[in-house]
Amino acid sequence: MTVTDAADQRHMARCLALAARGGRTSPNPQVGCVIVSARGEVLAKGWHRGPGTAHAEADALAKLGGRAPGATLYVNLEPCNHQGRTPPCAPAVIASGVARVVIGALDPIPGHGGGARRIARAGIAVTAGVLADACRAHNRGFFTWGERGRPWFTLKAAATLDGRIATSTGESQWITGPAARAEVHALRAAHDAVLVGIGTVRADDPRLTVRDAKGRDPIRVIVDSRLRTPATAACLAPGARTIIAGRAPVALARVRALTAAGAEVWSLPATTDGHVDLGALAGALAAAGVTSVLVEGGGAIHAGLIAAGLCDELQLHVAPIALGGRRGGPAWLGGAEVARLADAVRFTPIGCRVTTDGDTLLTFASAPARRPARGRAS
Ligand SMILES: NC(=O)c1ccc[n+]([C@@H]2O[C@H](COP(=O)([O-])OP(=O)(O)OC[C@H]3O[C@@H](n4cnc5c(N)ncnc54)[C@H](OP(=O)(O)O)[C@@H]3O)[C@@H](O)[C@H]2O)c1
Repeated sequence: MTVTDAADQRHMARCLALAARGGRTSPNPQVGCVIVSARGEVLAKGWHRGPGTAHAEADALAKLGGRAPGATLYVNLEPCNHQGRTPPCAPAVIASGVARVVIGALDPIPGHGGGARRIARAGIAVTAGVLADACRAHNRGFFTWGERGRPWFTLKAAATLDGRIATSTGESQWITGPAARAEVHALRAAHDAVLVGIGTVRADDPRLTVRDAKGRDPIRVIVDSRLRTPATAACLAPGARTIIAGRAPVALARVRALTAAGAEVWSLPATTDGHVDLGALAGALAAAGVTSVLVEGGGAIHAGLIAAGLCDELQLHVAPIALGGRRGGPAWLGGAEVARLADAVRFTPIGCRVTTDGDTLLTFASAPARRPARGRAS
């Protein structure tokens, strides 16, 4: 690695730290920008604060208060090249007189990109792809939304050592300790929406708000084909927006009752077995500007999402307790049973951590892991 590479990476990491200051900026990405003089001195820093506010480059250039000939501008996402609610950034970057622009990741939204090319055509040196993986991971919701037309899905469950998310009598609160629960509230604040099935609403009556962490409440989404959500459900309490995803055609009397209770009812296509089509729900959420969804159960919804290819990350919060028995409480993964190990759903492990309360937080990517090659016994 050359000295320049190391400095580029350091400044790009700084951009990501600044980007995080923006909080939930969706559907826009979190973007940070640093302008550095030829001698390596940081001249200005900026970050984006959400739709309709200045982009990170514009924020940094405004703080610079003039031109910066010979400087380098670092930004974790390609400067935009289109007129939206704010002017395009590429011309402003060109006008600033910087000699070089270093970009983390290219813009995935059709019609937004081209900023890097425009800047290069103006005679400014452009380097793209510095810490590209970290830059894409930082805005994984935005990239999934822009490239795949659906939100990023994180599935989370609190389970016992034997994979149960409730006892046989339906007791599920609380399987894990306060530290794991606080992490879940932080996860809610970091996602645009939190989603549960009607089974969970009827069993646990969750509020689905952020209480044990800083941050805004996400949109609440209840998957409820037949609109069985009680009008008194805690997830309909005033505050955050609540969407009840029903199966078309929805019963108008129920729509009226739930709308009067504060919910928004969506009428979505059904699967052949009469449930809400989760792919259609994902598309509808994306169209509403939702870039990331935290799924908090139950097992049937987890199974439906995994079967539909809508699990990007799985977070299992495992308590050091076991319930035992052959017909115990429900598992975090419902749906049809698999008879052969070869047909098991397989995840790629990416993280493992023990909380101060002794729960184990396991994180998996959804991509199938390669089976280890079997060695022969000698
Ligand atoms: N420990 C934890 O982390 C945790 C978290 C959540 C829940 N839980 C526990 O889990 C249990 C509830 O889980 P559950 O599996 O019974 O209910 P669920 O997954 O919350 O909801 C399942 C229901 O969602 C509806 N649904 C609509 N479209 C669907 C689709 N495409 N695929 C699958 N379901 C669809 C179905 O009813 P309709 O089609 O009729 O609408 C289905 O019965 C409770 O015991 C609760 O306490 C534990």
